[in-house]
Amino acid sequence: MLLPLRIGLAGLGTVGTAVLRLLERQAEVLTRRTGRKIVVAAVSARDLAKQREVDLAPFRWFDDPVALARWDGVDLFVELIGGAEGPALASVEAALAAGKPCVTANKALLASHGIRLARIAEEKAVALSFEASVAGGIPIVKTLREGLAGNSIERVYGILNGTCNYILSRMETEGLSFAQCLAEAQKLGYAEADPSFDIGGFDTAHKLAILTSLAFGAVIDADSIAVEGIETISLADIEAAAELGYRIKLLGVARRTPDGIEQRVHPTMAPKTSAIAQVMGVANAVTIDADAVHELTLVGPGAGGEATASAIVADIADIARGVRSPPFGLPVATLSKAEIAPMQLHLGGYYVRLSVFDRPGAAAAIATRFAERDISLESIVQRRRPGAETSGVAPVILITYATHEHTIREALEAVVADGFLAAKPQLIRIERE
Ligand SMILES: NC(=O)c1ccc[n+]([C@@H]2O[C@H](COP(=O)([O-])OP(=O)(O)OC[C@H]3O[C@@H](n4cnc5c(N)ncnc54)[C@H](OP(=O)(O)O)[C@@H]3O)[C@@H](O)[C@H]2O)c1
Repeated sequence: MLLPLRIGLAGLGTVGTAVLRLLERQAEVLTRRTGRKIVVAAVSARDLAKQREVDLAPFRWFDDPVALARWDGVDLFVELIGGAEGPALASVEAALAAGKPCVTANKALLASHGIRLARIAEEKAVALSFEASVAGGIPIVKTLREGLAGNSIERVYGILNGTCNYILSRMETEGLSFAQCLAEAQKLGYAEADPSFDIGGFDTAHKLAILTSLAFGAVIDADSIAVEGIETISLADIEAAAELGYRIKLLGVARRTPDGIEQRVHPTMAPKTSAIAQVMGVANAVTIDADAVHELTLVGPGAGGEATASAIVADIADIARGVRSPPFGLPVATLSKAEIAPMQLHLGGYYVRLSVFDRPGAAAAIATRFAERDISLESIVQRRRPGAETSGVAPVILITYATHEHTIREALEAVVADGFLAAKPQLIRIERE
């Protein structure tokens, strides 16, 4: 039997402690599967005195994760601290520089420094593995990098943030407002005290940047992602979507287009019949459109200690077996600088909700503004809520056929300038199957 694989693990929070427990519980089966023992030799966190659910006595303690990464008593470094900079970055850099493979769950680190770290890993001929960084327990990294290696990928999109999906699902099933559902998510521990990173779409964007690189063989370019969050989604939109056969999801979408690769995160109307629309609650899902396999959807837990630990332990098992793939599927030098398609050229259907003053000529004026720009309407619905007759404002919902983003925005600017609207128009992109 090979020598044991000695792990140094930095970060003993939700994920780190779950990894320790899973490695212990599965020790025997992991030894049989990989042909060697996997042992945790040392750990690091901020506070040695902190009460934890695991007994740290068997492990050597390091106050400094960088010193742990360099220590010659470990063969593999696992980073579960979090954050794009600081000790997470310093310790992964130190481990790779010392020629040690690294496993991380840190999407922020990868979105900012993934390619540079992959280059160091390549130079040192060691693995840099990050299955847990996107969609928690769903093995999406391996699916894209290895399982679909024989495919050309056209589009990859998914629900990559469980907090947002929980909020949108609850709004629909319970008829509660966005604010009520957010407060509930915070109470249940699904949303942070400062939820802006999740609900603003930025967490999804970090994960999408990694998926884009894997799917299209491109250098990570997180800064060019167009990001919109779910803060503006109202119950009126959720109800209108349901009536029209859609469900609203916060999606991260990367798609090959004639103008380059589109990367966008925004609330999206997904047809109710699509696999992605069925995914409710805190679950995550990723759909891939590829030439040989056509459509593939993976659904599962996107967060939580145990599910995330499952992905980390899978990476550890690969390293124990001596498996090493290029981190982003291709040698770094051959990753392309993706040409990013500008959002203004996005071509797709749109849902538009207008709050229109009940005045003669309003509907005709709106229709004219759309017709002037050759925007074809699939449907136009004037919805009146019971009791709203006296408000003087009527909601009008339009669904367009495929049109360019700049065209629909110009049409809406003209509608606003006409003075028939009582509130800012709501615009939600439709993602067809
Ligand atoms: N939670 C999830 O469901 C989930 C899912 C997928 C990916 N991830 C990713 O997994 C990583 C860890 O997440 P988590 O939820 O486990 O975080 P967490 O519960 O906040 O734990 C972070 C750990 O890092 C330690 N730490 C912080 N600063 C440190 C420093 N300077 N030196 C050494 N240790 C330090 C903390 O030490 P103390 O305990 O002593 O304070 C703590 O043990 C993040 O990158 C996150 O994005 C998490």
